[in-house]
Amino acid sequence: MNYPFWIVPHIGSGWVIGLIAIFHIMISHFAVGGGLYLPLAERKALRENRRDWLETLRGHSKFFLILTGVFGAVSGVGIWFSIGLANPEATSTLIHNFVFAWAIEWVFFMIELSTAAVYYYTWGRIPHELHIKVGYVYAVTSLFTLIIINGILAFMLTPSDAWLAVAGTGAEASRFWQAFFNPTYWPSLVLRTLVCISLAGIWALVTCSRIDGAKNPSLKTSLVRWSAKWLIPSYLLLPFALAWYLWQVPESQRFLLQLGMSTAAPGMFTQLTRMSLLIVLSSVTLVGVVYLLAWRTPEKFRFSQAVVVLFLGLVATAAGEYSREMLRKPYVVGQHMFSNGVRRGDVDKFNQEGYLTHSPWVTTTSSTLDQGQIMFRGQCMACHTADSYRSMRGLLGERNRDSIASLLKILHDYKPDSPYRAYMPPLVGTAGEISALSDYLTTLGSPAK
Ligand code: HEC
Repeated sequence: MNYPFWIVPHIGSGWVIGLIAIFHIMISHFAVGGGLYLPLAERKALRENRRDWLETLRGHSKFFLILTGVFGAVSGVGIWFSIGLANPEATSTLIHNFVFAWAIEWVFFMIELSTAAVYYYTWGRIPHELHIKVGYVYAVTSLFTLIIINGILAFMLTPSDAWLAVAGTGAEASRFWQAFFNPTYWPSLVLRTLVCISLAGIWALVTCSRIDGAKNPSLKTSLVRWSAKWLIPSYLLLPFALAWYLWQVPESQRFLLQLGMSTAAPGMFTQLTRMSLLIVLSSVTLVGVVYLLAWRTPEKFRFSQAVVVLFLGLVATAAGEYSREMLRKPYVVGQHMFSNGVRRGDVDKFNQEGYLTHSPWVTTTSSTLDQGQIMFRGQCMACHTADSYRSMRGLLGERNRDSIASLLKILHDYKPDSPYRAYMPPLVGTAGEISALSDYLTTLGSPAK
């Protein structure tokens, strides 16, 4: 809480990460899957003596290089910037634990980007066998970038009991491997690998759709069909991988999903359920569209149709990532740090010593309302905005100061049966600080102001 607070109007800082991340996932997973697609397609073209494939593949590798090397890399750095701004405390935890993993990740990025460029620029300049080998070097290194980052991403949902046992003691680094190969590591790796393979096929369909089917019917048919096959592994295995993944998620988090399925009322629980439904629906539609339009009539497969497939992939990815985020609530690092940067182990300390007493943003001249605002920024704005996304004004509705104060009391007491426990962290601070927050929230809630 010693960090400055980043206020993003309307959408909140979380969505800045979200929007960049969804875009990044579509490209970064393609960077891994497409890295395997290219050398395998090239090898097939040579074995079956389909020289006409090579020209298309060369074009595809240029598209691949630009998309992953420019947009993938820039959006990846964008995630870094935005997580550091939106949640400095959690980013610091990740860096302290995984600095060497990240250093190695960057080594792989370097090799990945270099080989992608070498692969494209050496088409027709070096023997095909060697060219394919360059492709494989790319494929293996890009797979390693996933193997590494997956440990860090999975850690945030399930940091492992071994790591949690020493969290906050300074001995976290001794549990590096347990934290890295945490309970959701393997299912998450399988899930993401399947997504990579599908996205290789989906993006390849975009390139294939631009082949003139009237002029080159056999080229288009064979490449469209071969690319469409890249969706099969996901189609068959994704549900199992997903079940395995959810199985590894702690009961308390999975509860959010179960609750969503058994409550019909609209609200936050059903958001997760709706998102899960959206993943299923968009994936099923995607497979249906690919089968009907690409597989059945490949020569007529159009660019606009490929864009629809891509869009459905985007919807499924976005819904998937959103669900993963919701599943983690109210934590940013599972069972350890709440989304607002408050460590679970510090709750008692803040309640006794005060939250604002530890804040450099409170000065002797800060009024009660200022203090309330700092409480709001520090403890609530990680998930809420004042009047747009998950708007405090809207959620407070008609509540007056008394009912706001009693709501805050529930948030503060955080009793085991509190309905808010499932998705909100405890409100920490002294009675005076909480009263200042009530004052401030009253000014937000009242429609007159
Ligand atoms: C970890 C994220 C997170 C944090 C931090 C958080 N909330 Fe929430 N809050 C939620 C979610 C999710 C909902 C459900 C929103 C919905 O139903 O649309 C919610 C709902 C609410 C509601 C409506 C509840 C009701 O019963 O009407 C209020 C009021 C609220 N939050 C206040 C706060 C306050 C005050 C803080 C800071 C002390 C806070 N929240 C911190 C995630 C959070």
